[in-house]
Amino acid sequence: MKRFFFLLIAVAVVACQTKEPVVGLVTDSAMVVSAHPLASQVGTDIMKKGGNAVDAAIATHFALSIVFPAAGNIGGGGFMVLRLKDGTTATLDFREKAPAAATTDMYLDSAGNVIEGLSLYGHLASGVPGSVDGMVEAHAKYGSLPWKDLVQPAIDLALNGYPLTERGANDINSLQQDLEKYNTVKPEFLMRAWAKGDTIRWIDMGHTLERIRDSGRAGFYEGKTAEDLVAEMRRGKGLITLQDLKNYKSVWRDPVVADYKNYKIISMAPPSSGGLCVVQLLKAVEPLPLKDWGFNTPKSVHAMVEAERRIYADRAKYMGDPDFFKVPVAELIDSKYIADRMASFNPEQATPSTEISAGNIPGYESEETTHFSVVDKDGNAVAVTTTLNLWFGNKVVVAGSGFFLNDEMDDFSSKPGVPNVFGVTGGTANKIEPNKRMLSAMSPTIVEKDGKLHMVVGSPGGSTIITSVFQVILNVVEHGMGMQAAVDARRIHSQWLPDAIIPEKGALAKEDSLALVALGHKLMPRPNIGRVDAILVLPNGKLEGGADRTRSDDEARGY
Ligand code: GLY
Repeated sequence: MKRFFFLLIAVAVVACQTKEPVVGLVTDSAMVVSAHPLASQVGTDIMKKGGNAVDAAIATHFALSIVFPAAGNIGGGGFMVLRLKDGTTATLDFREKAPAAATTDMYLDSAGNVIEGLSLYGHLASGVPGSVDGMVEAHAKYGSLPWKDLVQPAIDLALNGYPLTERGANDINSLQQDLEKYNTVKPEFLMRAWAKGDTIRWIDMGHTLERIRDSGRAGFYEGKTAEDLVAEMRRGKGLITLQDLKNYKSVWRDPVVADYKNYKIISMAPPSSGGLCVVQLLKAVEPLPLKDWGFNTPKSVHAMVEAERRIYADRAKYMGDPDFFKVPVAELIDSKYIADRMASFNPEQATPSTEISAGNIPGYESEETTHFSVVDKDGNAVAVTTTLNLWFGNKVVVAGSGFFLNDEMDDFSSKPGVPNVFGVTGGTANKIEPNKRMLSAMSPTIVEKDGKLHMVVGSPGGSTIITSVFQVILNVVEHGMGMQAAVDARRIHSQWLPDAIIPEKGALAKEDSLALVALGHKLMPRPNIGRVDAILVLPNGKLEGGADRTRSDDEARGY
């Protein structure tokens, strides 16, 4: 009996020691990883029908607007980064814009103080949506299947309905008071208690998608949809006009491209701060032996946080819409500039954020978003991050057209020096101006290794997007993790102000937390950081998905 008992213990010990590494879905050639299994399936089906990665991304985007309405959208905006099989890269900016009637002090009271909530909730919080124009533009340049085939799956989901996940039901349940408070015409179809498995239909939105299917851009920016949106603005004292809608144009921009060791990072340029900050962070830690120091050890975390406080200080001063403010892109990612920024890094001591300001470049003074990654059988890759800003945006459903509007105006700095909903402080580079795009942290990113496609990655999470993408890249390239393990790994965040390390539950062992406090850091734990959906090309050419399934409903699909 005693021997049997010891045998049992021995078996248990061996089982623990030989724990299988976490591996995500592995497919031969094509994959979509998104926030909802039905949206990943829509994109996969499009590629099975012969569509390329851009076709799949467009179909996934529209499907997410129905099955993940908290952040998937047609009433918001976003960014697309793509790398074609021949190595050509491009980025599309379909970020929302301030309406023409917007003013720098539109969220301030007569004493010059920020009126809480005005840039976040209700009609005045919305920028002019860019998502539909972005999808039309991407299709015109790179699509291969007919447009209508890419919109139809979302129409079917909207009109036939789909079963809610538990999270999906909880999301809409937690929205009930806001629906009541901020809608001038109550969206009765949403206003009830929802449970997992309930079928939800989006009838008005399904008909809006039919107009987009049949008329493309004009199905949203003109005609009934545009008139419904502007009528909604009039009832709720918002600013968007028919002319604002007509004038909206997405823009092809040069990507931010930089080397990190034998990897090339291809990411989104301003008006996103994401690409610049991810590259700055990687370059800041490049000379440090993170691999030897290990994953989430006090030494590694200290170094990453010290880089983060310096880079977020730069973000506040130098980053804004490049159509309005000259962002010093080349200077900010110059290796010498970044080495100078890190010169004050002390491995033994945290630098208080009060002692950090932006670097000196001569001549210059919602977190709830969603990301998806796509690779097709030919090796074309697309990374898209899209947003309404907060969960369900400004909480207003456009009456008659049935979609949620964004509250992206909060991503401007309402008043320089006063933090936004993500606690990030902005400067005059990102002040509100008519027709300007608000600064973003969205970081859809593609990584090449030795000149070949290696990884497609991105995340929602407001200001934590940048640090989530930074860590997932390091987890793979420095800590040798596979894609799923890199996504599952617990994260930490820091952003200059507030002066603190924000670890996810479980990210730091107790003794490591104490070691960081001894270095002079403050810790502000929180439950979850980011929601990364990523794809890694394995050495044998197969694809491994990293879906953020431990934090949410995200799932990889492919073949
Ligand atoms: N609304 C979040 C972002 O654009 O960064």
